[in-house]
Amino acid sequence: MTKKITIAIDGYSSCGKSTIAKGLAKALEYTFVDTGAMYRAVTLHMVEHGIESTDLQAVKNALKQLKITFAYNAGRGASDVLLNGKNVENEIREMRISKQVSNYAAIKEVREAMVAQQQEMGKNGGVVMDGRDIGTVVFPHAELKIFMTASPEVRTERRYKELLDKGDTISKEEVRENLAERDHIDSTREESPLRKADDARILDNSNLTMEEQLALVLGWVREV
Ligand code: DC
Repeated sequence: MTKKITIAIDGYSSCGKSTIAKGLAKALEYTFVDTGAMYRAVTLHMVEHGIESTDLQAVKNALKQLKITFAYNAGRGASDVLLNGKNVENEIREMRISKQVSNYAAIKEVREAMVAQQQEMGKNGGVVMDGRDIGTVVFPHAELKIFMTASPEVRTERRYKELLDKGDTISKEEVRENLAERDHIDSTREESPLRKADDARILDNSNLTMEEQLALVLGWVREV
């Protein structure tokens, strides 16, 4: 297949969206865009400047002062996110950011700014983008849309292990609560809530290895 399509991957927190998106991008030689990283970078900026998500005017002003870019990290095989030129890839994954991100991501102005940048990054196709609103809002005409799910137990276990590996001291219960809370805020917010696009294919990866998922999705890509 020579045509470079757009692949939209949405789903709940810690479903393994980025892992499969990264694998797909590598296999197809596409660009991978982790849109969650963008909302996390915005959140980091706000938290560091003491701007509460309830202070809409301050959030709007701060949005004008932040620039989010990406820089390819060959070691990771993916792009790191930069906030005003500073690499914040690790910081944005900290629990203090995970706890706040859904509140800032629910703000209309924040979403408008991120969506505009995402549409620009993917306008020529050849992109795998993961997030919550990619198939519904950012690229409603994406050739392939995937909605990912996995059981809460599997997701908690994965995320917990990931954080432990990074040296975070956190309880499994705290991880479980954070995932449940983010899912709730992300799917009940007024502005482009997380929902499956009508034409998205469901990928439940609770019991699938990375290789199995990749083979399945590459089959879908060939069908487009
Ligand atoms: O994918 P992630 O867990 O890193 O995303 C962090 C948060 O950002 C998530 O809780 C909801 C928000 N988000 C969003 O609202 N829209 C997106 N396209 C991506 C993420």
